[in-house]
Amino acid sequence: MSAVICGTGSYAPEYIMDNDRIAELVETNDDWIRERTGIRRRHIAKTETTTFMAVEAAKGAVENAGISPEEIDLIITATLSSDVILPCTACEVQKEIGAKNAAAFDINAACSGFVIACNMAEAFFAAGQYRTALIVAAESLSRLTDWSDRNTCILFGDGAGAAVLKNAPGKHFLSVTHSDGEKGWTLTCKSRPAADAEKSLREHFIDMNGQEIFKFAVRKVPELVKEVLQKNAVDQEEIAWYIMHQANSRILEAVAKRLGEPAMKFPMNLQHYGNTSSASIPLLLDEMNRTGRFSKGEKILMAGFGAGLTWSGSILAWGI
Ligand code: UT7
Repeated sequence: MSAVICGTGSYAPEYIMDNDRIAELVETNDDWIRERTGIRRRHIAKTETTTFMAVEAAKGAVENAGISPEEIDLIITATLSSDVILPCTACEVQKEIGAKNAAAFDINAACSGFVIACNMAEAFFAAGQYRTALIVAAESLSRLTDWSDRNTCILFGDGAGAAVLKNAPGKHFLSVTHSDGEKGWTLTCKSRPAADAEKSLREHFIDMNGQEIFKFAVRKVPELVKEVLQKNAVDQEEIAWYIMHQANSRILEAVAKRLGEPAMKFPMNLQHYGNTSSASIPLLLDEMNRTGRFSKGEKILMAGFGAGLTWSGSILAWGI
């Protein structure tokens, strides 16, 4: 048996912030941001919460999959920016969509979160424990962004995406996940914003060594892709799409080049959303789905990479 994607959904906040608006806040400009990152604009949650976005994305995925919420056995939400510490966002999603038979919990694996959550669902499927999973990823990174730090505020955006996975007949694919805690210092956010947080501490903002992360991604992601292919005895030519974490267009172009793959197999939507951490992959899956770019049975190789450090890859089949 294997996990197939049977439905997707997404939500992007109403407010759109373009590069020119950011240039009013920090010393930067539209040309620099576009050339170095590919990003043109991002959606910022002014009124929406992480939970609201997660629920909207989840509803879209369930409707698209044509299932009833009661059929869902498992909900995993990947997020590093939940509204509250307790209860977890996945339980809020469960409540709001009426998935009363589902086990629900959150994971935090930063930008690898959606892929790792899918891998967990597939492992539950392989063990025969669950048959239908709803994987949600939702982020309000703008709340964790220092809007006076041009190294980071140009990159991030808010949004949510979701996918329904089903256990279907077919080959079971094995995933690959790596972590390197020694490099955890390269991307940190030490605490949550609090009403009385002293501004000078700045510990609740994302802090990043961009060049280290860039080098890590360009080196490790092609290795990860090869490891996933080798582990599953799948040839590179069999992969229809590489759906990668949307961090930076230069990273994705470098990965495609190292793998000798055409850029068209690495779709991107980061120009419109920025880097939405765990939400970036399901946001892209939903956009590709809604614009009819996937065909039934196509193999999709997903890869997430980011803070931890963590990097994770897996193959899923398109099931609609
Ligand atoms: O989900 C994973 C999360 N993180 C990432 O994926 C980030 C990965 N890293 C990156 O995407 C890139 O490293 C950045 C986009 C963050 C930065 O691009 P870069 O090409 O590595 O730039 P840099 O830090 O080497 O800076 C180059 C120059 C510097 O000026 P000098 O020293 O050459 O005069 C910076 O001071 O650009 C300057 N600079 C800027 N200029 C205008 C840095 N940030 C900006 C800015 N606007 N926002």
